[in-house]
Amino acid sequence: MTNIVWCNIAIFLLASLFLTDNALVLEALHHAPNRIKDQPYRTGYHFQPPKNWMNGPMIYKGIYHLFYQWYPNGVVTDFNKIVWGHATSTDLINWTPHSPAIKPSRPSDINGCWSGSVTILPNGKPVILYTGNDRNNHQVQNLARPKNLSDPYLRHWTKSPANPLVTPNAVNHINSTAFRDPTTAWLGRNGRWRVITGSQEGRRGLALLHTSRDFTSWKQSTKPLHYNDGTGMWECPDFFPVARFNPQGLDTSSFGESIKHVLKVSLSETSHDYYTIGTYDRMRDVYVPDDGFVQDGTAPRYDYGKFYASKTFYDSVYRRRILWGWVNESSPVKDNVDKGWAGLQAIPRKVWLDESGKRLMLWPVKEIERLRAKQVKLENKVLEGGGSVLDVHGVTASQADVEVFFKVTGLEEADVIEPGWTDPQLICSQNKTASSGLGPFGLMVLASKNLEEYTSVYLRIFKARQNSKDHVVVMCSDQSRSSLEKGNDKTPFGAFLDISPYQPISLRTLIDNSIVESFVGKGKTCITSRVYPKLAIGKNAHLFAFNNGSQNVDVLSLSAWSMKSSL
Ligand SMILES: *[C@@H]1O[C@H](CO)[C@@H](O)[C@H](O)[C@H]1NC(C)=O
Ligand SMILES: *[C@@H]1O[C@H](CO)[C@@H](O)[C@H](O)[C@H]1NC(C)=O
Ligand SMILES: *[C@@H]1O[C@H](CO)[C@@H](O)[C@H](O)[C@H]1NC(C)=O
Ligand SMILES: *[C@@H]1O[C@H](CO)[C@@H](O)[C@H](O)[C@H]1NC(C)=O
Ligand SMILES: *[C@@H]1O[C@H](CO)[C@@H](O)[C@H](O)[C@H]1NC(C)=O
Repeated sequence: MTNIVWCNIAIFLLASLFLTDNALVLEALHHAPNRIKDQPYRTGYHFQPPKNWMNGPMIYKGIYHLFYQWYPNGVVTDFNKIVWGHATSTDLINWTPHSPAIKPSRPSDINGCWSGSVTILPNGKPVILYTGNDRNNHQVQNLARPKNLSDPYLRHWTKSPANPLVTPNAVNHINSTAFRDPTTAWLGRNGRWRVITGSQEGRRGLALLHTSRDFTSWKQSTKPLHYNDGTGMWECPDFFPVARFNPQGLDTSSFGESIKHVLKVSLSETSHDYYTIGTYDRMRDVYVPDDGFVQDGTAPRYDYGKFYASKTFYDSVYRRRILWGWVNESSPVKDNVDKGWAGLQAIPRKVWLDESGKRLMLWPVKEIERLRAKQVKLENKVLEGGGSVLDVHGVTASQADVEVFFKVTGLEEADVIEPGWTDPQLICSQNKTASSGLGPFGLMVLASKNLEEYTSVYLRIFKARQNSKDHVVVMCSDQSRSSLEKGNDKTPFGAFLDISPYQPISLRTLIDNSIVESFVGKGKTCITSRVYPKLAIGKNAHLFAFNNGSQNVDVLSLSAWSMKSSL
């Protein structure tokens, strides 16, 4: 296997490595056998089907569809056997499994049905464009249509007899092992469809552009939509419009004065998703990032923890754009084999453009709040400087939703940040013991009673310079103490935050047994961690707020809800 990690794989398999019938396997998985259901790391309300490398989600006749890359035969994927897993939902939380929507069967996809996207045509009919790994292990683009449009679940798909629609060849010079992941198509100038695919030429990453009148006959554009040198392969590109000063989502073909565009690519070399905000020039059919944005590893990320191969879709019913992202395991393969599954989807997040126009905001879809059960609420508590811990009891701390508002005082007491501390992840790992007047303060989640184990999600505030009123705020999600078990990847994650410490700072954390998703500033910055505690499991998990800085920090309010499991 090379370093290829196409758009979100996550594997997931079960008890029976011997079952050969996909449908059977799916059945077994979704009605997870007790062996899996009773596992401590199995999540309660995250989408966790077989395996996911997620593919084009969509909504059709009021039903949400999630297609995801799935390897039916084991927890360690064989990319030549990937199928399109399929599940549907009416609320994005409870899911009904179906048999795979697309499986390898033709010369144009016999070595794998890889990522792609759904486009809803103007007549309301959905179509899938997906990458096939063909019999020569060349990557080609294929089309599939629903077999029966009256079936609201769209369980069966028919591959186009014209497949493959686009192939790498001597004329177009497309790299045949780096040509994949078609996006949702949009209608551009002159009424033609446009779609981009990710590619690589040497060290250059590319979003190749293709146009079509009829969705079947595609012509490669002379110029890519965008490219950048030195990045390596662009996987799972996503290109979509966002409105200025309006959190509502837009259909992918929307265009106009007050609309910006977002280009996201998954860099296979770093395993992270990066986006830029810019302008789509419809005349020249190119995308130009705004000043300050470069489409490489310096661009902002949707999530500064584990989150890859993500994809958005437009929810026309609630007029919002929703992001799905794949979160893999941090445990060794051996543990995944024992568990029988690997990988899951982050809670779907609504995406919109921040008022500044310089960042996207991401927030868990509101439907997730329906799973909130018992609430515990604390108000106006002081976390005194010098090391204090507040036990938040009364919630199921292994499966919870927590939202807290902190107010810091004594900002003038913050330490000046060291000039060399330019990498937030290093500040959260190597530089974490350095003292600071302000913080670390935040939450300890999935904690054992006596703190042998905990995952800390916290903030630290520094002065940008001596005698300056500017501050640098760092967010960390630190799993270095998350489990007594060795062997897991426990690298702490960190991000700089574009928020004012003079205002209350909000932190929301979704905890689900082995995943911790945190959002600061109402969705300005997110970090997702995977952890596998040995003690802090089920009823033995605890939740604490803490302050290890020298200055007091006020908890204006803290709400914690036990979360029910989804179906
Ligand atoms: C199409 O789906 C509808 C609704 O599920 C069903 O009643 C009908 O029998 C299906 N048609 C065929 C040809 O399968
Ligand atoms: C083609 O893509 C592969 C990755 O699959 C990469 O290693 C190789 O350098 C690319 N070839 C060229 C000529 O760009
Ligand atoms: C999967 O997890 C491993 C271990 O934590 C990590 O090194 C790798 O980057 C992850 N891959 C992706 C695509 O997130
Ligand atoms: C902080 O991290 C940097 C970068 O790794 C390292 O060079 C430096 O020694 C660290 N400083 C402290 C005080 O830990
Ligand atoms: C707080 O400080 C104590 C004492 O230095 C340390 O043991 C503990 O790990 C710190 N807590 C966090 C969450 O960083």
